[in-house]
Amino acid sequence: MKFNVMGAKIIAYGLLLGLFSAYLSVYETAQLKMTNVICKSENQSLIYVNECRLRAINRNITILNLNISMLFSSSDILLDMQILKKANGYKPWIVKTVVDICKFVKKFNNPILKVVHTISKEYSNLNHSCPYMGYQLIKGFHVYPKQLHLPFPTGDYLLTLKWIYDKRFLLTTDVYFSFTENIIDM
Ligand SMILES: *[C@@H]1O[C@H](CO)[C@@H](O)[C@H](O)[C@H]1NC(C)=O
Ligand SMILES: *[C@@H]1O[C@H](CO)[C@@H](O)[C@H](O)[C@H]1NC(C)=O
Ligand SMILES: *[C@@H]1O[C@H](CO)[C@@H](O)[C@H](O)[C@H]1NC(C)=O
Ligand SMILES: *[C@@H]1O[C@H](CO)[C@@H](O)[C@H](O)[C@H]1NC(C)=O
Repeated sequence: MKFNVMGAKIIAYGLLLGLFSAYLSVYETAQLKMTNVICKSENQSLIYVNECRLRAINRNITILNLNISMLFSSSDILLDMQILKKANGYKPWIVKTVVDICKFVKKFNNPILKVVHTISKEYSNLNHSCPYMGYQLIKGFHVYPKQLHLPFPTGDYLLTLKWIYDKRFLLTTDVYFSFTENIIDM
């Protein structure tokens, strides 16, 4: 029984590795570009958006800068994440998950947020344990397609992040991006 499980695991890992390298070679030529970012505070006496914008570095790359003031301290933070894909308006796509941020920054237990976290931690001051308060900063954030471990078909997407502090929904950060699977063929 144990051997069967082991065997199955090895086959599964083999398949994953195969898929992953096929995926990497496709994604070498893929392109991901953030196209817009919108931040909205639901209560400006608690959360204030100082900066929330994209800057074009060159034709292919935009960087994201965020500077958000939390005017309170919180150790109870939920992040409601969803990716929508554009098709006659934005429709829910594969990801819809709620992450407990204070648990996440201890255990990195959500695979999707972990990808985002791994990419963004060098651009932000957000990689610490709870509580969170004061300036929440992201500077110069950008993503290369091969850093993502999700298969994105060519299209326009919206990553919508709703931040819930102490059971109160206070902030939305929406990042719009386009993904082009294989620009060489275009
Ligand atoms: C914003 O939060 C403060 C502090 O909790 C509260 O007094 C105020 O009523 C809230 N404002 C809105 C518009 O919800
Ligand atoms: C943009 O991407 C294309 C295709 O990968 C590449 O040929 C070009 O050099 C890039 N331009 C810049 C400014 O990085
Ligand atoms: C964040 O915004 C505040 C208010 O505009 C500003 O004083 C501060 O310098 C900004 N921080 C960074 C790192 O840009
Ligand atoms: C930042 O995150 C990494 C995991 O992605 C972790 O190993 C590291 O200890 C974290 N740093 C701090 C200061 O929490």
